[in-house]
Amino acid sequence: MAKLGLFLSITTIIGALSFAGLSSPAAADAPCVTKVFKTELAKNACAKGGQKAAKDAMKAWNKEKKIKSCNQCHSKLAPNYELKKDGLDQFKKLGGK
Ligand code: HEC
Repeated sequence: MAKLGLFLSITTIIGALSFAGLSSPAAADAPCVTKVFKTELAKNACAKGGQKAAKDAMKAWNKEKKIKSCNQCHSKLAPNYELKKDGLDQFKKLGGK
């Protein structure tokens, strides 16, 4: 009976450990791809909460500027968010910082 108890607590510990590993998906707090920022919006958001925060900040900013598609400036979205040639220009022209 003592052996069974030990076995159960070990499996509980292992279960808890692997659960903790699974419950923090890397994607949720992935850092931004950009390392040298040209905009304050992205810089601040990335510093605060990585790519997820940048995405949220971009979404809010797009809404404010009534932009319908992220693809207006980005040629690709996740995971690298590559910018179009004039992506930064457009951003600045719209008053982005
Ligand atoms: C008007 C142009 C424009 C639009 C529209 C736009 N973005 Fe961006 N986005 C930029 C620019 C410029 C940067 C680069 C910022 C820098 O270098 O500081 C950027 C960077 C990002 C980044 C940071 C990527 C990284 O990991 O470094 C994310 C995430 C992002 N944008 C998401 C979005 C999403 C989501 C949308 C749509 C809701 C969107 N963007 C729409 C101009 C735009």
